[in-house]
Amino acid sequence: MKLAALEPKVSLLLNNENLRIAERLTLVCELLQSEVAYYDWVGFYFKNGDKPELKLEAFAGEPTDHTIIPFGKGICGQVAVSNANFVVPDVKAQDNYIACSMYVKAEIVIPLFVDGENIGQIDIDSHTPDPFTEEDERFLEFVNQEVAKILA
Ligand code: SME
Repeated sequence: MKLAALEPKVSLLLNNENLRIAERLTLVCELLQSEVAYYDWVGFYFKNGDKPELKLEAFAGEPTDHTIIPFGKGICGQVAVSNANFVVPDVKAQDNYIACSMYVKAEIVIPLFVDGENIGQIDIDSHTPDPFTEEDERFLEFVNQEVAKILA
């Protein structure tokens, strides 16, 4: 399936003003996790107030203990400070990695910017080795831009 085919559905869910933003984000996580075979866990982390840490705001997949992640720790914490996409084809090759499940083989984290500021990220875990391509990066950048519009 072409990921871009999901873009109108993502926009529709995010623009449903009858729901709170956290509910809309959960629906987007559920859509992505159910529609993309190799997206096994999908979540949005955001900067936790003024603290140098990320807080899990919405997710689909198995619950995780890692609802708070300090800046710099793990793949997510590194993206909070690097402001750059982080594609991990093999999590075992990473030293600074926080394991959420023994089944996870690969991970992708894309920062989310509002007015040029890195305020959060979308994080996806996969049980498939090395599944992510530039198509995923472009698609997830689109998702984050759509989220940024409702947060701005
Ligand atoms: N693996 C992440 C932690 C979050 S879980 O994937 C849900 C990391 O290393 O930052």
